[in-house]
Amino acid sequence: MIIKNGLLVNPDTNTSCKADIRIKNGIIDEINSDIPAASSDECIDAEGLTISPGLIDTHAHFRDPGFPHKETLHTGSLAAAKGGFTSVICMANTSPTVDSVPVLQDILERAKNEDIRIFQTGTVSHGLKGKVPTDMTALKEAGACGFTDDGIPVTDASFCYKAMQEAAALDLPISLHEEDPAFIQNNGINHGKISSQIGLYGSPAIAEESLVARDCMLALRTGAHVVIQHISSKYSVELVRTFKNMGANVHAEATPHHFSLTEDAVSVHGTLAKMNPPLRTEEDRLAIIQGLADGTIDIIATDHAPHSALEKEKPFPDAPSGIIGLETALALGITTLVREGHLSLTELLEKMTINPARLYHLPYGKIAKGSPADLVLFDPKELWIPKEYLSLSSNSPFTGRELYGKVRYTICRGKLVYTAS
Ligand code: DOR
Ligand code: ZN
Repeated sequence: MIIKNGLLVNPDTNTSCKADIRIKNGIIDEINSDIPAASSDECIDAEGLTISPGLIDTHAHFRDPGFPHKETLHTGSLAAAKGGFTSVICMANTSPTVDSVPVLQDILERAKNEDIRIFQTGTVSHGLKGKVPTDMTALKEAGACGFTDDGIPVTDASFCYKAMQEAAALDLPISLHEEDPAFIQNNGINHGKISSQIGLYGSPAIAEESLVARDCMLALRTGAHVVIQHISSKYSVELVRTFKNMGANVHAEATPHHFSLTEDAVSVHGTLAKMNPPLRTEEDRLAIIQGLADGTIDIIATDHAPHSALEKEKPFPDAPSGIIGLETALALGITTLVREGHLSLTELLEKMTINPARLYHLPYGKIAKGSPADLVLFDPKELWIPKEYLSLSSNSPFTGRELYGKVRYTICRGKLVYTAS
């Protein structure tokens, strides 16, 4: 395959240039200014398109096994490819949870049938109950790429400390959902202006900040690579900044919804703006953007969390938390961060490609001769409106909203896995 006339953006080397790419046997074989195409070559004309390494999502819920009415490995992969993602790291809050080698092996075996690369985390505790540690060594040997009880916080500090020590010894990241339930009366809505309007107490920012403070300290003490998942509050961002400066191997993920929306979205979109941790205030949103701009937040992750329409139609307190995100993430990054002048396109792509690859030791996220041919070709200027999804679920507050940046082609292992119509 030959891709001609595209603008290559390579966050790995912080370079961009116009060039052609030849792909052979799933590998980037040549990058040059004018590669002649033989008539037998599959050729893509990328004139006007930007070519980035395939996107890598460190935080998605494919619901497989357990909830095939919400998503499966297959439908999740289709949604990922449409969004420009060629590698996705799945969370472990499936049913059963990924706390044993057989569950993990089953997922990884079935994942091989999909067009994108699926990686799987193992849980930190058995059944996400925070009491009995999993055999992290065995899970790593069976292919786990990291550990997380995502969806549920690890409330016991000493348990969390030991898990971090173990993760550090195994040199794998441990990712943490930071919301102390002791502070929370209602999940999925910030304790603030909107929650009081609708008569709920909600989930205050201190629920997150108190655990972030604790876990930054534990990260500093253990040396583990600790990921603060879906960061939502300004003080959490400040804590990560401070502890990074102190030398902790602490990382943070921001989701497109936390940098694009505030709690006001709950008034407009109801349960489609319900997620854990919740959308917070404009001050928090701007602090997240500042954290992305100055490098405090190194990763943009979707927290793609499919739920059925029937479940999301329940009254606010009863509906499940979470929204889908794979198909709109790049466009939200371009629309909210790049076009508003907060990040360059290369900086945005760095947080969606090479930074995740480095943290999870994946050999992807770069465009280089000899590297795997995982690429996304998109038009950063194209205006489009999300209307329908390849995900099995469509729980998104961004449906119907004008966004810039449209994925045209996704290539994984040298194979075209998505073409926009
Ligand atoms: O809103 C959320 N939904 N946050 C999480 O951490 C978990 C996710 C889910 O699994 O639905
Ligand atoms: Zn989470």
